Amino acid sequence: MKLAGIILALGFHTISALAFECTAFAFDIILPSNASTLYAVPVPANGTFGEGPSNVAYPTNATNLPALCAVSVNVTSSATSSFTFGLFLPHGWNGRFLAVGNGGFLGGINWLEMSSGVRYGFAVMSTNTGHNSTNSNSTWALNNREAEIDWSYRAMHGSIVIAKELVDAYYSSAIKYSYYSGCSTGGYQGLNEVQDYPEDFDGVLVGAPAWWHSHLQTWSIKVGIYNLPNTSAHHIPSALFPVIGAEVIRQCDDTDGVADGIISEPRACSFYPEALLCTPSTVNRSACLTSPQIDTVNKIYADYVETNQTFIFPGLELGSESQWNLVAQSVPDAFSIGYVQNLVYDDPTWQWWNFSLQTIQDAERINGPIADADNFDISPFQARGGKLLQYHGYADGFIQPGSSKYYYDHVVRTLAPMGMDVADFFRFFFVPGMRHCSGTVVGAPWYIAGSGQANSLYSSTPVRSVPGYEDADHDALLALMRWVENGTAPEQIVATYYENNTVSEGVVRQRPLCPYPGRAVYSGEGSVDEAESWRCEAI
Ligand SMILES: *[C@@H]1O[C@H](CO)[C@@H](O)[C@H](O)[C@H]1NC(C)=O
Ligand SMILES: *[C@@H]1O[C@H](CO)[C@@H](O)[C@H](O)[C@H]1NC(C)=O
Ligand SMILES: *[C@@H]1O[C@H](CO)[C@@H](O)[C@H](O)[C@H]1NC(C)=O
Ligand SMILES: *[C@@H]1O[C@H](CO)[C@@H](O)[C@H](O)[C@H]1NC(C)=O
Ligand SMILES: *[C@@H]1O[C@H](CO)[C@@H](O)[C@H](O)[C@H]1NC(C)=O
Ligand SMILES: *[C@@H]1O[C@H](CO)[C@@H](O)[C@H](O)[C@H]1NC(C)=O
Ligand SMILES: *[C@@H]1O[C@H](CO)[C@@H](O)[C@H](O)[C@H]1NC(C)=O
Ligand SMILES: *[C@@H]1O[C@H](CO)[C@@H](O)[C@H](O)[C@H]1NC(C)=O
Ligand SMILES: *[C@@H]1O[C@H](CO)[C@@H](O)[C@H](O)[C@H]1NC(C)=O
Ligand SMILES: *[C@@H]1O[C@H](CO)[C@@H](O)[C@H](O)[C@H]1NC(C)=O
Ligand SMILES: *[C@@H]1O[C@H](CO)[C@@H](O)[C@H](O)[C@H]1NC(C)=O
Ligand SMILES: *[C@@H]1O[C@H](CO)[C@@H](O)[C@H](O)[C@H]1NC(C)=O
Repeated sequence: MKLAGIILALGFHTISALAFECTAFAFDIILPSNASTLYAVPVPANGTFGEGPSNVAYPTNATNLPALCAVSVNVTSSATSSFTFGLFLPHGWNGRFLAVGNGGFLGGINWLEMSSGVRYGFAVMSTNTGHNSTNSNSTWALNNREAEIDWSYRAMHGSIVIAKELVDAYYSSAIKYSYYSGCSTGGYQGLNEVQDYPEDFDGVLVGAPAWWHSHLQTWSIKVGIYNLPNTSAHHIPSALFPVIGAEVIRQCDDTDGVADGIISEPRACSFYPEALLCTPSTVNRSACLTSPQIDTVNKIYADYVETNQTFIFPGLELGSESQWNLVAQSVPDAFSIGYVQNLVYDDPTWQWWNFSLQTIQDAERINGPIADADNFDISPFQARGGKLLQYHGYADGFIQPGSSKYYYDHVVRTLAPMGMDVADFFRFFFVPGMRHCSGTVVGAPWYIAGSGQANSLYSSTPVRSVPGYEDADHDALLALMRWVENGTAPEQIVATYYENNTVSEGVVRQRPLCPYPGRAVYSGEGSVDEAESWRCEAI
């Protein structure tokens, strides 16, 4: 069969080594006994592929694809569990493998995100993580430890191992380099791979990782509780969030020396919420805060420290107000409640008013061992030559950027005493003004072709890389490849903002993101909207 494929390929004068047919039968031959091919179908150039609405997690089909072979494989992971993964094998292969991550509890193959990767020429893989579900529905985990293990790490690692074998066989050529890109849950999946399976990837791109589930989900419930009950004097109605956001910009914007609506260094600002206090002379009574509401504001920004000064999780940053409705609404976030009900207690009757320090300790004890990517000793990844590039939006109101800082700081605290320079293989970038994984409400340059970002730009045709700037200075994935393959570490990554996030409306603003703990400084000359007017300064 392989020979026939080669002859066929030569007959069509194609350079790609299509030594392998795009049929389920061909793939089945090389799969281990615990896996079977669900389908393998050729997709022509400019074709469409996806599962439509039957994929409840990712119902949007990928369009305008390059010519490729789309494969889906089912893997038995235990007596009661299984997971699937999808593969895009492009005819114009760049010799590299890319795995992409999921978001939230989204259970489904992420074909749309795979399409962003396949446009670079990668052979791309995504797993359904072992269940079908929408973002915040975690009932699949109720009394189902095996499904939880699949979601936590087994489906990702198991898919990678098999997918790599299929890629090698399909092209009759060993993969030259392997990469990963994911944000949020996808960021968690990437860090988990770095920690537990350092051999899987040469380069890992991680955005806004949910790496510390037992603390993140319980913090989220706590923040919801700060603003409850909604009949109390301390409750802040969501209509006031933009009022607080505007005041934060008024007070904190120019802490970085440039008044442009973008807060580059929220931690350098000492916010004074009393400026919003309702007084007899306040004209607009729905745009001011009472004293009890100011207490709530202070709690939301504060780090969450429990009994006996136990640090639980960092607080929300100044500038994150446009996403406060995700966690500080009329009931605590359903995603986090579901986490405690289904992944911690296996008790759907548990409610937010049952929350206490005990909940956090139980989450750590029950779910932490499988779903907290909290190993700071990532020296095995360094030793195999791996490179890790992480970013986090400073205006993220769903997963605090401070949790990425916490992870980076603790890796430094763990490895620097062992004589390692962490910046040699792990660099972390805050993205001022960026919300959770993508987007901005203040016109901040945020686009770096990170996970999910290409699909959140408006464009008449699917976006590839950074339109107009398809290079390693502007595209974080290309920057990671240059670091891995050529040894050039990213000293900065230039982020881009397109007018109204619409590619055809053109670039409004570009600015370098700088490796933490450095910062971008305006040179004092030239337009603040041009990257050249800024430089990265180390501390
Ligand atoms: C690609 O397909 C779309 C429909 O999905 C069509 O409108 C477009 O003309 C096609 N482009 C090319 C170059 O064939
Ligand atoms: C998505 O693509 C699949 C095949 O790849 C097709 O069966 C399905 O109808 C498409 N769904 C939509 C909504 O376009
Ligand atoms: C995958 O295999 C399992 C058996 O391990 C089976 O129960 C499940 O239905 C299969 N999934 C699909 C999508 O065929
Ligand atoms: C499937 O089988 C292979 C070969 O026996 C084994 O290495 C792998 O761990 C198994 N995968 C899972 C998810 O159980
Ligand atoms: C997911 O849905 C597919 C149909 O779209 C079904 O074949 C498969 O068994 C489901 N998997 C699980 C784990 O429920
Ligand atoms: C959650 O998923 C379960 C199992 O798939 C389903 O029965 C239930 O209706 C879903 N709940 C919601 C609120 O969508
Ligand atoms: C207040 O909370 C209650 C109970 O969760 C809810 O039913 C009600 O809709 C909320 N009211 C507002 C104004 O959000
Ligand atoms: C008063 O403040 C609210 C925001 O809470 C705003 O929506 C409204 O437009 C303001 N009214 C006036 C008259 O400025
Ligand atoms: C707090 O510290 C005291 C004294 O060390 C100890 O007895 C107690 O168990 C601690 N409480 C918690 C919740 O850890
Ligand atoms: C939750 O709190 C309610 C009211 O205090 C109590 O009746 C119930 O037993 C608690 N449930 C759990 C699971 O702790
Ligand atoms: C490595 O450097 C060479 C020579 O400058 C260049 O052609 C190639 O594109 C670079 N590779 C990557 C992945 O950046
Ligand atoms: C921004 O783009 C979206 C999507 O194309 C469009 O619906 C919206 O009207 C645009 N807004 C402005 C202010 O141009």
